Amino acid sequence: MTDQRDSKVWVEGHVVDGHKARISVFDHGLLYGDGLFEGIRIHGGGIFRLPDHLRRFAAGAKALGLTLPGGLEKVESIVLETARAYQKEEGYIRLLATRGCGELGVDPTTCESPQLICIAKSVSLYPVEKLESGIELITSSFRRPSLDALDPAIKSLNYLNNVLAKREARLRGADEALLLNSAGMVAEASVANLFVVHAGHLSTPNVTDGALPGITRWSIATLATELGIPFGERSLGRQDLFSADEVFLTGTGAGIVPVASFDGAEIGLPGRGPVTRRLSEGFSRFMGQNLTPF
Ligand SMILES: Cc1ncc(COP(=O)(O)O)c(C=O)c1O
Repeated sequence: MTDQRDSKVWVEGHVVDGHKARISVFDHGLLYGDGLFEGIRIHGGGIFRLPDHLRRFAAGAKALGLTLPGGLEKVESIVLETARAYQKEEGYIRLLATRGCGELGVDPTTCESPQLICIAKSVSLYPVEKLESGIELITSSFRRPSLDALDPAIKSLNYLNNVLAKREARLRGADEALLLNSAGMVAEASVANLFVVHAGHLSTPNVTDGALPGITRWSIATLATELGIPFGERSLGRQDLFSADEVFLTGTGAGIVPVASFDGAEIGLPGRGPVTRRLSEGFSRFMGQNLTPF
């Protein structure tokens, strides 16, 4: 049974307790995954990198031809109102825009108007003890859709590829799945970006290899430059994980998560390696410097 009691939801103009929030079964977000979302972090009583999340949300909406009701200013005010109602210093915000209610059938022109929803809740993506000791990662047999099928840069409500990869990982006793693209190059994990460290040099896959342009990914790239850690975006293969000194995942929900093993092979020493540790410490400071108060 999921616990919705600690959540607040903005829906149809009001913030309500999470367990009372309702949407129509004719919403094309539910029927066809027609819509998009953002995962945003509440930290220290503020919202981390809100302008960047709003920019990515607006770009995704434009790509889907979905007009955000009230524009981006309205969306921002909804996020802030939901965070205020949640009344917690730490948490997670899930912002959604669906195509809204329409006829059965995928035609988006039958939908009346897009619907905004904003959820504030706690989130925990991995067992707490593994956030320090490291998670087990396996290669999924599901490939990331190619950019011309469903661009992974759009955080659409169509996450079945991610869901099935994660399910496969859990069925195989692992914590997380690595998705390759159709060319066999590393894209990312089910809902997180991936970084590898070789001899002090940090790398992450290119967005064109199927990685989401993650806000945490971008923060780590900025931090690496600040800290003088050599960094580059490049195509990675599975062998780059087997040969790595350190591997870690990044995402709003989980933060920076060390990977302890990949397809059964141990990676470095248990826990955070030296580069991961420096970036994790830097990231705590970085978050404090990039907050929008609510
Ligand atoms: C597929 C995918 N990749 C990566 C990420 C990490 O992105 P961010 O750091 O913006 O949370 C997410 C976050 O939800 C995601 O869904």
